[in-house]
Amino acid sequence: MARCTNLMVCILVCMFVMNITLDVFHLTYLPFFEIAPKLKNLRYLKNSSCRIFEPFKTIPVFEESVIQHIRKTERRVFAVDCAAIINGNKPEIDRARAIMKNKTFSRKGFSDFDYINLTKNCDTFKLARGYNGFIQSTEEQEFPIAFSILLYKEVEQAERLLRALYTPRNYFCLHVDGDAAPEVHEAVQGIADCLYNVFVVSKKEFIVYAGFSRLQADINCMENLVERGKDWKYFINLPSQQFPIKTNAELIKILKIYNGANDIEGLTGYRRVESRFQFRYFYNRTEPTDVKPELFRSTYLRNDPPVNITVVKGSAYGVFSRKFVEFVVTSKPAREILDWFRDVYSPDEYYWATLQYNPQIGTPGSFYYGKPEDKPWLAVYAAWGGENPCQGKFVRGVCIFGVSDLQELVNKRQMFVNKFYLDYQPLALACIEEWHLNRTAVPSHLLAFNDTFYQQLPFIKPKEE
Ligand SMILES: *[C@@H]1O[C@H](CO)[C@@H](O)[C@H](O)[C@H]1NC(C)=O
Ligand SMILES: *[C@@H]1O[C@H](CO)[C@@H](O)[C@H](O)[C@H]1NC(C)=O
Ligand SMILES: *[C@@H]1O[C@H](CO)[C@@H](O)[C@H](O)[C@H]1NC(C)=O
Ligand SMILES: *[C@@H]1O[C@H](CO)[C@@H](O)[C@H](O)[C@H]1NC(C)=O
Ligand SMILES: *[C@@H]1O[C@H](CO)[C@@H](O)[C@H](O)[C@H]1NC(C)=O
Ligand SMILES: *[C@@H]1O[C@H](CO)[C@@H](O)[C@H](O)[C@H]1NC(C)=O
Ligand SMILES: *[C@@H]1O[C@H](CO)[C@@H](O)[C@H](O)[C@H]1NC(C)=O
Repeated sequence: MARCTNLMVCILVCMFVMNITLDVFHLTYLPFFEIAPKLKNLRYLKNSSCRIFEPFKTIPVFEESVIQHIRKTERRVFAVDCAAIINGNKPEIDRARAIMKNKTFSRKGFSDFDYINLTKNCDTFKLARGYNGFIQSTEEQEFPIAFSILLYKEVEQAERLLRALYTPRNYFCLHVDGDAAPEVHEAVQGIADCLYNVFVVSKKEFIVYAGFSRLQADINCMENLVERGKDWKYFINLPSQQFPIKTNAELIKILKIYNGANDIEGLTGYRRVESRFQFRYFYNRTEPTDVKPELFRSTYLRNDPPVNITVVKGSAYGVFSRKFVEFVVTSKPAREILDWFRDVYSPDEYYWATLQYNPQIGTPGSFYYGKPEDKPWLAVYAAWGGENPCQGKFVRGVCIFGVSDLQELVNKRQMFVNKFYLDYQPLALACIEEWHLNRTAVPSHLLAFNDTFYQQLPFIKPKEE
């Protein structure tokens, strides 16, 4: 290849060759070359593991001894009695808090480098982390779910979420921020190389807080998942700080009741925060030395959205039917609307909701015509400052759960809870993990599952008579 002499030309050529699309391109204020040299790990932006995805072949047999092994070692908490904590036992909760405060307390987690080492031998990795034993009912075998997990650092937390959701039938797309540290990329690739139904997204985005690339990251995973898994029924996108409070079998029960409907949050009126899409936002750095740029509001007014749509706000996270995902990745109207969101602040919090609550778009999986905020949204429960109780701590208005929150959390209707931190009250995540695996390991938990609430939801697709 000819040597690039001019920096700008060189970067453009590299970007073309590497097929990088940074949304920075769509903004005129700051050209990409002011940002690119600060990306330390640019080489990881495009390094797809071009593995051929093997379709599911054999159904691993559930072995009681393996489940016992997993329960006894990896996901059992011995320092405290998690069952008591989840029952709200005050002395045990106090003991847990004291233990975590004690300077000698060690969480003994896995570093990113540990994962690189551990995944060099996949059999060791799978046994050590509990990917070998599964109870698979026919219902679970016939209803695969696709997930995307987004992460930037701390592979351990993403991996613990992955294994809670892992079954041989589900599909997982892992999106590592293009600018994450090399060991994060390598550790995640190592995990993906050990599990045939887990892969690293083929195009990694450089994620900027509230920027378009956050949304693009999910769309990249959607594209890969549609291509690689022909039989999954629903897609759920997750950050690694979330954790399920429903087992895979329970998720399937709920999703079957949804019957093809999406579960997407919708906020209208003043709650849309109009300035975020009325003005153009542009990238810049607060400090010239900052690696990641930030979004700033300009005084430039934006055009009206295409096809006469009303912008609706919601969450970046949701539960999406397969047809919805196919619509997003293949349909022209969906693409045009997506383009309109490029210089909006936090487009990931607008795009799904706008598609869902504008009937004229004809989005698949949308069956609710009332006011979106009048219906429940069950993808994820988060405790917001001033609205919900929180016994942990608030970070940017969202509760980081602690051990005293668990009793309330396990009774929620939602499928996931947001969020846990690895380094804040680590016994909270450890205990909910134990609780979740206990339920997974005992299929009879499903018998107690009361589906009345879900059957009565106003947004589900009515059963055809
Ligand atoms: C891409 O990833 C592989 C490991 O999967 C690594 O061996 C290779 O060096 C990487 N390539 C680049 C350009 O980083
Ligand atoms: C999980 O199951 C084990 C073994 O039956 C039990 O000792 C433990 O208390 C259970 N944990 C929770 C959180 O229910
Ligand atoms: C902290 O842990 C050490 C070692 O387990 C123990 O000896 C000590 O009593 C603990 N301190 C408190 C305040 O719990
Ligand atoms: C990984 O393995 C290598 C060689 O086996 C060893 O030297 C290194 O200390 C290990 N690293 C970690 C973090 O365990
Ligand atoms: C971007 O930020 C720098 C300071 O880091 C400032 O000097 C410059 O004016 C900003 N550019 C725009 C377009 O606001
Ligand atoms: C656009 O939508 C508004 C409100 O939904 C409606 O009153 C108007 O007629 C629509 N215009 C076109 C051109 O469809
Ligand atoms: C099931 O849930 C419904 C509503 O959510 C409630 O009215 C009913 O009592 C519950 N049934 C049982 C057996 O708990």
